[in-house]
Amino acid sequence: MIIAHRGASNYAPENTMAAFRLALEMDSDGIELDLQQTKDGHVVICHDEELSRTTNGKGLIKDCTLDELRRLDAGSWYGESFAGERIPTLEEFLTLVCDTKLIVNLEIKHIPYYYEGIEEKIVQAIQRFGMVDRVIVSSFDHYALRKTAELNPDIGIGLLFATRLIEPWRYAAGLPFAVRSMHPDYSFVDAEYIARCHEYGYAVYPYTANSPEWYEEMRRLGLDGVITNVPDVMK
Ligand code: G3P
Ligand code: MG
Repeated sequence: MIIAHRGASNYAPENTMAAFRLALEMDSDGIELDLQQTKDGHVVICHDEELSRTTNGKGLIKDCTLDELRRLDAGSWYGESFAGERIPTLEEFLTLVCDTKLIVNLEIKHIPYYYEGIEEKIVQAIQRFGMVDRVIVSSFDHYALRKTAELNPDIGIGLLFATRLIEPWRYAAGLPFAVRSMHPDYSFVDAEYIARCHEYGYAVYPYTANSPEWYEEMRRLGLDGVITNVPDVMK
């Protein structure tokens, strides 16, 4: 499964509708994106909690209203042909993909700011769009995942790992909710990692790998998919 990281982010500004449309055109199997929450409680798509890297604004998303964010340009930093791209809302994205077969990997960004109530809004949106069976919610904040699973145990849960834990499959099995997939940094993955995760019943979708040679080798070892900036190359 080829999952486009922040959309087709090698070719368009990350986490914009342009990047998501391109990922669809490239026939990606899935799209990964990052979720933050505005001051007035809207769920929006942006990797950083701060605006200046990927927009012409500055300051924290949690201190801005949706109206304020929607006035920002989220495309020019990447290239002039993308000028006018906006920070998308979760709803806008789900509207684009709800009639496709795409797997959607929604990553909750709870760190370093805690977004009160974001899990409820995400779960309600997934349910409203009828996408429970096609979504994986992931986070480095596993408390957010516990809350998501409590709200709807049918939603797929993916554990993100940025540190190299010892036997993370055992950690996953000890959690009080069901885990669908493991999402480690790609450098943690080897034959044992894949085999042990499979033994415990978890798919493995590492991030962010852009080398087709690496992916081919891992696929031979049984890797289930990859989160990549170059879905076209990996396909
Ligand atoms: O979900 C995989 C990957 O996106 C996690 O790291 O920082 O790119 O959101 P990051
Ligand atoms: Mg992410």
